[in-house]
Amino acid sequence: MGRDNGKGGLRVGVIGTGHVGLVTSVAMAAMGHRVTGTDLDAERIDQLQRGMPPFAEPMLPELLDEGRASGRLSFSLDAASAIQDADVVFICVGTPPRASGKANLIAVERSAIEVARHATNPVVVAEKSTVPTGTAQRLRALLRSQRPDLRIEVVSNPEFLREGRAVADAMQPDRILVGAETEWAFERMRRLYEPFAAGGRSIIETDIATAELAKYASNAFLAMKVSFINAVARVCERSGADVLSVAQIMGSDPRIGPAFLRAGMGYGGSCFPKDLLAFEQFANGLGYEFPLLREIARLNDEALEAAYQKVEDALWVLEDKRVALLGLAFKPGTDDVRFSPALALARRLLREGVRVVGFDPLAATAVKAELPEIELATDPYEAAAEAHCLVLCTESEDFAALDLDRLRDLLAQPVIVDGRNLLDPARAEAAGLSYYGVGRPAGVLVPRGDDDEERS
Ligand code: UGA
Repeated sequence: MGRDNGKGGLRVGVIGTGHVGLVTSVAMAAMGHRVTGTDLDAERIDQLQRGMPPFAEPMLPELLDEGRASGRLSFSLDAASAIQDADVVFICVGTPPRASGKANLIAVERSAIEVARHATNPVVVAEKSTVPTGTAQRLRALLRSQRPDLRIEVVSNPEFLREGRAVADAMQPDRILVGAETEWAFERMRRLYEPFAAGGRSIIETDIATAELAKYASNAFLAMKVSFINAVARVCERSGADVLSVAQIMGSDPRIGPAFLRAGMGYGGSCFPKDLLAFEQFANGLGYEFPLLREIARLNDEALEAAYQKVEDALWVLEDKRVALLGLAFKPGTDDVRFSPALALARRLLREGVRVVGFDPLAATAVKAELPEIELATDPYEAAAEAHCLVLCTESEDFAALDLDRLRDLLAQPVIVDGRNLLDPARAEAAGLSYYGVGRPAGVLVPRGDDDEERS
């Protein structure tokens, strides 16, 4: 997979070894650059020095090994070793929401101070963390005042990778976005991305403010698609239409496109919820209301509430019932439970006195730390045993392939709430399961006490 870019590669420092930072590090090393990653978290650096990936991500272990073996990838607790001599330093630190929803930029500022302290060569500082427009300007002012002696330029280089396929996204990006102010900085970023752009992908070059804003706008738009189709699902549930067909028909219009129109239990993860809030706060700070952003988040809460209500509808009295949740991370292929819809549902059910059992192929350790009240099973069938209801919470293909007859025999009550429309409702009903999908005829909620026949 590794490939030298023919020019010996650039020296790259990466501050922050979270999802974006670590994936950027292994991808840059695989493309022939010499990379040093740094982090304040001593345990993480120790793990990385021993070649252990700190989170689940396909292809990450292989590229980590490859990078270390090639000598092009190393990690250090000492920020200086990532920054001194570097041609490009990436800032990939977290920007978590503050109580107001605004992005907390303390780690970004701290990273810039480290660059000012340790840089020895003319260097480009590339913001990869998702930050409000204007952040680069602040960084530039800070760096200029602390290091007037050295050419340090700030560029915005937002990341569009998706967890669960982050390495593939980083190696074959669908777009490479660089916002910069000078030809010197653009030229350096072109050299850095030359091997990535080889497959015909061009680098989009723009000004810094546009690049920063494009990232927020992209995530907000994707979240809007998800919330839109979830709202359509609510209407489908009340009207007998099938949201899967509606989404397919809508998506066949190239102006709309089929992606991100899967109705479900709502979006989660470390990006959409946080970025929507931050984008709204940012727009408000400029005197622009943008209430649509708040509505997207409200519809997302509503999608989760709809899943909860299906469980309640199926079980009537919730107290002391046992509910099994399959898929506890915010989506399949990751162990990331940040803003996970499954855990939000679990909390809601636990509050009502439900005994919650869960299964996730990757996220068990993270769930134990985050919500120890969930009993953890080692496979889906163990989770289903004696449960009064089984909820499919992530879009995992493994859950779509479950043996429905076996599940029916294991469950205390044969109820499936399919929070991601993974199963064929007719097949589930044929196996003797009461099936609740999302926005599908078999999932139509009817007031309690109505004929069972009306339910299907
Ligand atoms: C998202 C964006 O997709 C990336 O482009 C971006 O780089 C990243 O945020 C970021 O800002 O770092 P990610 O959070 O990894 O990536 O996850 P997505 O694949 O976008 O999924 C987000 C959530 O939306 C998941 O909970 C998923 O289940 C949900 N979703 C997605 C739906 O409910 N329906 C859909 O049709 C699509």
